[in-house]
Formats: sequence, C-alpha cells, structure tokens
Amino acid sequence: MSATGVLREDHEEIRRFGEVVARCHSALLAGADVPLPDLRRIAAVIDEFLDSVHYSREEDSYFPCVASYGLRKEVHDLLVEHEFSRRIAARLRRYLDGWEAGADGREPVARHLRTYCIYLEDHLRKEDDLFERAGAGILSPEEESEMYRQFTEDVAAARIRDMKAEVAYLAGRPWAA
Ligand SMILES: [Fe+2]
Ligand SMILES: [Fe+2]
Repeated sequence: MSATGVLREDHEEIRRFGEVVARCHSALLAGADVPLPDLRRIAAVIDEFLDSVHYSREEDSYFPCVASYGLRKEVHDLLVEHEFSRRIAARLRRYLDGWEAGADGREPVARHLRTYCIYLEDHLRKEDDLFERAGAGILSPEEESEMYRQFTEDVAAARIRDMKAEVAYLAGRPWAA
C-alpha cells in the first residue's frame, strides 16, 4: 500500500467515528442518557487519534510533500480547517468539564458535536479530492513508500488499533443503537 492509501483508510475509520458522533448528538437532543464517560471517550478519540495520529501524518509529512509540488493553497486551507476543528474540540472539552462540575452541558455539548460532524464531512471530502490528485502521479513512488513506512511504524499502528476498538465500543453503546 501507499501513504495515500493509509490516509484513505484513516478516513474510512474517521467516517465511522463521525457516524457515532452524529448518533450521540441525536441522542443528546432526544434527552437520552449518554453517560459522561462515553462523551469523554469521544473527546479522547478526537485528541488521541484524529489530532495526534491522523493530523500529524498530514501536517508533518503528507501536506509538506504535496505542497512542494504546488498544491500550496489547498494545503493551506486544510490546515486552517484543522485549527478550526481544534478550537471546536477545546470548547467541547470545556463544556464537558462544566457538565461534570454540575452545569447542564447537554445543549452546548450536542451543538459542538454537531459542528464537529459537519466539519468532518466537509474536510474529509476535500482531502479525498487532494488524495485523488496527489496519488495519481504527483507524489513519486519513493515518497509514497517512505511516508508509508513512517505511517505504519509500531506506535502509530497500535494507536489505530486502539481507535478502532474505541469506535466499536462507542457504536455498541445503548444510545448509539
Ligand atoms: Fe485533515
Ligand atoms: Fe485527513
């Protein structure tokens, strides 16, 4: 497989996660019981997988490489969106803290989950377009295999396994049915 292929696989898993987040949003709106630890786990997937693993792959390796072939504007816009998503995630964590401390966090948490879902859908679609272009002859086979090697080293692979397990766990919770 190629580095582009790895990122596409990440996106498939992120889409599954996005579906869980959307179900969580609906459950909160419907007044269903969504335990705080589950919401914390959603926030942890955002931080520990989306940000620490997937964004790193893009920001530290793939985007700089693609930008060096002239797709600077596209890469710049995607980086701005990453920052936007980090701000949503930070606010989500703040509202979760408040909820845990006794405030009613249901509405703001639901709203931020929904914003995150909308961001994800739009962002992944734009990146898939970039992958399409970059994977079709912009990146050299050497660049693809060098980044592939980085992306699949042990620590990253272990984190992806953890993320898949987390998404499967969350998808099996009663509120996600
Ligand atoms: Fe991204
Ligand atoms: Fe991505």
